[in-house]
Amino acid sequence: MTPRALRTRWAMARLPRIARRIDDGSGEFADRKASVFTMGLSFPSPIGLAAGFDRRGRLLDCAHRLGLGAVEIGTLAVADGLPFLSRPIAGGVRCGVSIGKPRHVAWDAAEEAYLRALRALHAAADYLTLNPGRDCPSPARFAEVATAAAQLRDRLARHRLRPLPLVAKLPAHWLGGDAAHIVDVADAFVAAGVDGLLVSAEGLDARRNACAILHMVSEAVGPGVCVISVGGIDSVAEVQARLAAGATLVQVHRALLARDSSLLRALRRPIPTL
Ligand SMILES: Cc1cc2nc3c(=O)[nH]c(=O)nc-3n(C[C@H](O)[C@H](O)[C@H](O)COP(=O)(O)O)c2cc1C
Repeated sequence: MTPRALRTRWAMARLPRIARRIDDGSGEFADRKASVFTMGLSFPSPIGLAAGFDRRGRLLDCAHRLGLGAVEIGTLAVADGLPFLSRPIAGGVRCGVSIGKPRHVAWDAAEEAYLRALRALHAAADYLTLNPGRDCPSPARFAEVATAAAQLRDRLARHRLRPLPLVAKLPAHWLGGDAAHIVDVADAFVAAGVDGLLVSAEGLDARRNACAILHMVSEAVGPGVCVISVGGIDSVAEVQARLAAGATLVQVHRALLARDSSLLRALRRPIPTL
């Protein structure tokens, strides 16, 4: 097991204990945080837990006590081993499910794998995120997958009582070109039919870049598309900066792995807007 995986396992054991020590915030929660309405869903806080931390949704029922508005479980390709996720989730916390394709499946056959995952996992989800993983050949190829996924989502949505928003994760290296390129990439996914873009700044050296890219993406897609920022968010100031740059929601991951996470302490206080 890698040191990072060990830290995640340790944090997964520790966070529910911390949550139990915090008074049950349900009822209070909505008053203390600005809830966000986007993609047809109300999120009790703009701050969510990024994928890869809580792969199976074990934190969902205590997430509201930690001040989180969403937990993105996964990335998963199949539902095997996923425990029954009870609903409604305490505090109105939203469950995103990040779906991907198994590594051995070639990109030529990716549509089939993503659609299989979508069929298997949509019932567990308030929204679904399409994760391109590390080896997706290009944004254009992934936009084709997103188009197929959005078509299936539209068919499934008719049989669901709740909406099924679809989000596409955009790795930072896809948004590295000039402004025109960034707008083209964002537009391609909106044209594919997604409701949200998860704009990753993972690996970007300057946070300034993260905000500049976020600004371009949010201007390009307009207020009808949810823009979620992830990568390098480790303080309330950084949450504020991403929201001010145009993010509708943000996600955190590594900042919550630290033993003394100042972000975790701050999460339950209101986040003043800049
Ligand atoms: C141990 C670990 C596992 C991760 N697993 C996934 C994953 O399964 N799916 C995914 O979309 N992102 C995954 N990520 C990326 C995170 O969701 C997030 O985008 C990234 O860590 C940047 O956010 P941060 O700077 O707040 O950590 C993983 C990250 C880490 C550190």
